[in-house]
Amino acid sequence: MFITRIHPFTPEQLTDLHDYICSIPRPPNRYRKLGEDLTEAQRRGQAVFERAYKNDGSPIPRENRCSTCHPAPLYTDGLIHDVGTKFAYDHHSKFDAPHLLNIYDSAPYLHNGIAPTLEEIWTVYNPHDTHGVTNDMTKDQLNDLIEFLKTL
Ligand code: HEC
Repeated sequence: MFITRIHPFTPEQLTDLHDYICSIPRPPNRYRKLGEDLTEAQRRGQAVFERAYKNDGSPIPRENRCSTCHPAPLYTDGLIHDVGTKFAYDHHSKFDAPHLLNIYDSAPYLHNGIAPTLEEIWTVYNPHDTHGVTNDMTKDQLNDLIEFLKTL
């Protein structure tokens, strides 16, 4: 969500606004019913999210694993990283590692909203494995990963 104003909020207004936004109840995540276990596909996807080895057995450097930049519980390390998503009109190449909570509900993705679906973050905008290692994945593995992400 973007909120734009010409006049900045006072700190008190910002606190009130924050409190108000946090008080809006969120719809339940239909990909993960409260108190229910992950499905088989979601569980496989979690393993892909946490994987430390590629399909050919070679190691994935720690700094390029999903769970390094997007660690639970908020699924962000709170730092900025260059994941190869600088586009023509960007002034810099490093961006905040976003949290992944309710990610199923916040398309479009990436800082400029260029990816309309979760899949495209990797099938279109990660050609050189700079945003996690995803190019060795089978279609089924990517599908499982997406299934898991939607539960967060
Ligand atoms: C080196 C740190 C790093 C690694 C490794 C990493 N990410 Fe990210 N991730 C980021 C950054 C930074 C962005 C924001 C990029 C942008 O906005 O252009 C991002 C964006 C995303 C987004 C889009 C969020 C949104 O709201 O637009 C998702 C989903 C995501 N990452 C999931 C993953 C998954 C799954 C993996 C593993 C395959 C992964 N990331 C690996 C740092 C990382």
